[in-house]
Amino acid sequence: MSAAVTQAVLLVGGEGRRLRPLTDTRPKPMMSLVDRPFVTHQLDHLSRHGIHDVIFSCGYRPEALELHFGDGSAFGMRLSYVVDPEPLGTAGAVKNAEGLLTGDRVLVFNGDILTDLDLDALAAQHVERGSVGTIALTPVEEPWAYGLVRLHPDRSVEAFLEKPSPEELRPGEPFLINAGTYLLERQVVERMPAGRKCSIEREVFPEEAGRGGLYGFPSECYWRDIGTPASYRQAHLDVLAGSVRTESPTGLRYLGPGAQVADGATVGPLASLGAGAVLEEGANVERSVIGDGARIGRGAHVTDAIVGAGATIGEGSLLSDGVVIGDRASIGAGNRLRGPLKVATGGTIPPGTLID
Ligand code: GTP
Repeated sequence: MSAAVTQAVLLVGGEGRRLRPLTDTRPKPMMSLVDRPFVTHQLDHLSRHGIHDVIFSCGYRPEALELHFGDGSAFGMRLSYVVDPEPLGTAGAVKNAEGLLTGDRVLVFNGDILTDLDLDALAAQHVERGSVGTIALTPVEEPWAYGLVRLHPDRSVEAFLEKPSPEELRPGEPFLINAGTYLLERQVVERMPAGRKCSIEREVFPEEAGRGGLYGFPSECYWRDIGTPASYRQAHLDVLAGSVRTESPTGLRYLGPGAQVADGATVGPLASLGAGAVLEEGANVERSVIGDGARIGRGAHVTDAIVGAGATIGEGSLLSDGVVIGDRASIGAGNRLRGPLKVATGGTIPPGTLID
């Protein structure tokens, strides 16, 4: 990246409720994505664009991040941390980092976005337009569930449409949504209210759009919010398939260090096994994510599912269609579990249960 921007704030303070029970035991940014914590992919992305100075704006379970990353020197980064005294929302969390900002502008990333967005191109547009803020935008096919961002032909923001009805839409207009990545001039951060909960999407941006100088940056790049189990699982498959640029290995399967696959067991296509995970004889794991140290029993089949760290799946059990098994849960032999279904951290399902 040009010297246009040298610092980023990563918003990593949310509770990650949609990803429960997996976020009971770790904050969302520390959830593993293939071979590294999710947020490491974001640091890799920033690093590729020459941004090495990152502020983690934390809230929920900040210690896990600090313990892993420290001051960042082991990762070639300069990392610092601020912690919400209480949940401050997305703008409050940026405001809370204001004292650590060193330049005239800053990149802000939601901590649950996997993307290979061209940050240089975003910054180039920002500088060329003289913007106070630039919001990365991603196209969606069905806009009904989202907040749509409507642009003028020069890409300045015309309007935000929250969960639009068909009548509100113009024929042929692109459905662009906020991609959770922003480049902001410092003045925008200065204008954010201090010491209270505030949403960047719902309060700050509509106000800035009214003032002028807020632009959108539409991009067709890979983009995924990993905040739901289905999306988190799909992100693994996308990384393995090479659909998004990351520093992780690609291929039909990923086996973490010390993972064991017994004779006659099969992994993949598109499956990720955490460190020390074990597949017993005849077990099969497909389009699924298996946590560190989990054990998949003899002849068990896991398809389109997530199995948490240290969980055990009994002999001959079948898990499919979006099942999520919490860490250390124990699923007895001969179960048939079809999702969307979640088993709590440490939960137990007795043998021979059928849950559809
Ligand atoms: P859910 O509880 O599943 O909705 O997830 P979430 O808590 O992560 O909320 P959401 O996806 O809306 O948040 C978007 C990003 O902002 C995430 O990376 C969150 O970590 C972060 N975030 C949301 N609220 C706060 C907050 O109050 N403080 C801080 N520091 N970060 C936040």
